[in-house]
Amino acid sequence: MSRLLDKYGSWAVITGANSGIGQEFAKLLAKEGFNLVLVARRQPLLDELANTLKAEANIEVRPVALDLLEPYAVQTLAKGVADLDVGLVIPCAGVDEMGRFVEKDYASIDKMLDLNVKSPTELTHVFAKKMEGRKHSGIILVSSLFAYQGIPNFAAYAASKSYILILGESLNVELKSKGIDLTVLSPGLTDTPFSQNMAIDFSQLPMIAQKPADVARCGLNSLGKRSSNVSGLLNKFYAWENRLLPRWAPVKLFGFLIDRAIAVYGRRAAKSGAAAKAN
Ligand SMILES: NC(=O)c1ccc[n+]([C@@H]2O[C@H](COP(=O)([O-])OP(=O)(O)OC[C@H]3O[C@@H](n4cnc5c(N)ncnc54)[C@H](OP(=O)(O)O)[C@@H]3O)[C@@H](O)[C@H]2O)c1
Repeated sequence: MSRLLDKYGSWAVITGANSGIGQEFAKLLAKEGFNLVLVARRQPLLDELANTLKAEANIEVRPVALDLLEPYAVQTLAKGVADLDVGLVIPCAGVDEMGRFVEKDYASIDKMLDLNVKSPTELTHVFAKKMEGRKHSGIILVSSLFAYQGIPNFAAYAASKSYILILGESLNVELKSKGIDLTVLSPGLTDTPFSQNMAIDFSQLPMIAQKPADVARCGLNSLGKRSSNVSGLLNKFYAWENRLLPRWAPVKLFGFLIDRAIAVYGRRAAKSGAAAKAN
């Protein structure tokens, strides 16, 4: 039996399981022998993933099609899994909000805050309470490298991820005595639909995209060992060197680089739009 299954089995709940890092958590945990509750909105994708994992890993999978922005979504999820011995929870679903803060529609910022901040906070609260009776349990919160400094054009998103980092580091200490290991995973740029759909040319930034499977593996390896971990060596360096600089310096630098990367993307999109019209 694997270290993870032995300590945190037998059921794991993963939100944002339909794609990217959440899906990779699901695949890795299936290989470790966990039974899985997979949460996301698109039912057909969830069912497809559930069937694949059941067939490949001989585990039980319960797909839960749920919009975490719906009122009482976390309570609905908790009720739906009340019969299961949940030992590991990974609230991974999250969205970005790129663009100038005052130019954004506030409703979309509000939704992002609900999904990135309120939903993982409530999930952690609800499941940590349930876990109190178990010997060992685990929670992996998903933050971001952007949590480590202000990021112009991602102001509210970066702030939402800072919240998760601080919440997680605090709870890592609070929950230890209850047998709950909590770690915060902070991915840098990761090759998923999340980053692929942003109107920004990431090749203009000094970043190397990681594979979502490597990022998820980093989160699982950190559980029970570290309160937080930044995935990838270069990302670790960025998070570390920030401590040596005045706080404004990396904020200004990233503001400049991101403005440029957005402008390059915009020019390229305009060119290809014009070319498509001409054909
Ligand atoms: N990719 C990166 O570069 C990167 C970097 C740093 C941090 N992160 C963080 O990593 C986490 C996962 O990101 P990812 O890159 O794996 O993103 P992703 O591929 O876009 O996956 C997001 C997942 O969340 C689900 N989801 C979205 N809105 C939802 C809602 N309202 N209710 C329920 N499920 C919802 C989506 O499925 P449905 O659409 O079917 O609901 C999907 O499964 C996020 O918290 C993100 O902030 C990502």
